[in-house]
Amino acid sequence: MAALPLTDSFGRVHDNLRVSVTDRCNIRCFYCMPETDVHFVERREILDFEEIERFVRIAVGLGIRKLRVTGGEPLVRRDLPTLIQRLCAIPGIQDLALTTNGVLLPKLAEPLYRAGLRRINVHLDTLDRQRFLQITRRDEIDKVLEGLALCRQLGYSKIKINAVAVKNLVEPDIVPLARFARENGFEVRYIEFMPLDAQSLWDRSKVLLADDIVAMLSREISPLVPVPDPDPRAPASEYQFADGVGRIGLIASVSRPFCLNCNRLRLTADGHLRYCLFAIEEDNVKTLLRSGAPDDEIAALIRRNVAGKWIGHEINSTRFVAPPRPMYSIGG
Ligand code: 5AD
Ligand code: SF4
Repeated sequence: MAALPLTDSFGRVHDNLRVSVTDRCNIRCFYCMPETDVHFVERREILDFEEIERFVRIAVGLGIRKLRVTGGEPLVRRDLPTLIQRLCAIPGIQDLALTTNGVLLPKLAEPLYRAGLRRINVHLDTLDRQRFLQITRRDEIDKVLEGLALCRQLGYSKIKINAVAVKNLVEPDIVPLARFARENGFEVRYIEFMPLDAQSLWDRSKVLLADDIVAMLSREISPLVPVPDPDPRAPASEYQFADGVGRIGLIASVSRPFCLNCNRLRLTADGHLRYCLFAIEEDNVKTLLRSGAPDDEIAALIRRNVAGKWIGHEINSTRFVAPPRPMYSIGG
């Protein structure tokens, strides 16, 4: 008999798991990491491939169908293609995707494709070398662009570009990125800057709002028309350019929170389970995995985590408290 779906107390069914495979990263985006003195967890605290695979199998037994591999930067994890191959082989996974900053794609896009990966999101905020350097504190834009081109050549499907929308910074990049994507068959997803940076730089006035982005693109390129989403629980609102060339997505996490549709769970690289990006509490799965606990005990922990899920992040209320982990340590 099939297990009951993973449902929380608000009736939200969870079928989407995001697995962070490392908290390390080879660039230093300011909205995620501090510039210096980054505290990474020790290697022995990071789940190994057996542990990750076992956890995913158990989660699939509870109804998880979509999997996204994240970091930190997942491509800095040694032998990542081997893990991807093992995850692809788990029966029940209908969709496997990866979020990367793209710097290592020139080296790894092909091995990952051979391992079975077909869907990829590449983080890129700007086409301008100087601003790339300012945002990421590293001069790596050429590798990202090379990586994107290679992914297209290899035949990855529906390649997406993640761009974080920070006010008074990336306005000059919004239109060029969309044009670049239209020309190359990529889809840009603009993500409103969220309070997940390591230096507490965030405040509302630094969020470039989704509506402003839609207005800008409609004015400069072609009017944007909303497209009905085949998956209403996906966080992005999708739009198509009226001239028929290309589409974009907007993740309006701050101006239009989508918590009521949330179907996502997160496993951190150090083996903690989180029901929300912004969760304050989390469950330690690693201790169970490393103490010989049977599958049903781990399954029960997953159910308990989902059952205790709150209604949403409340960024827009005075009750909001930023989570203790910054983005790189949670996994996007
Ligand atoms: N706000 C919004 N998005 C962020 N990302 C990283 N930090 C932030 C933040 N503070 C995005 C990056 C990355 C994805 C996983 O999360 O675009 O690709
Ligand atoms: Fe690295 Fe991603 Fe954080 Fe940028 S946002 S520093 S690429 S983990």
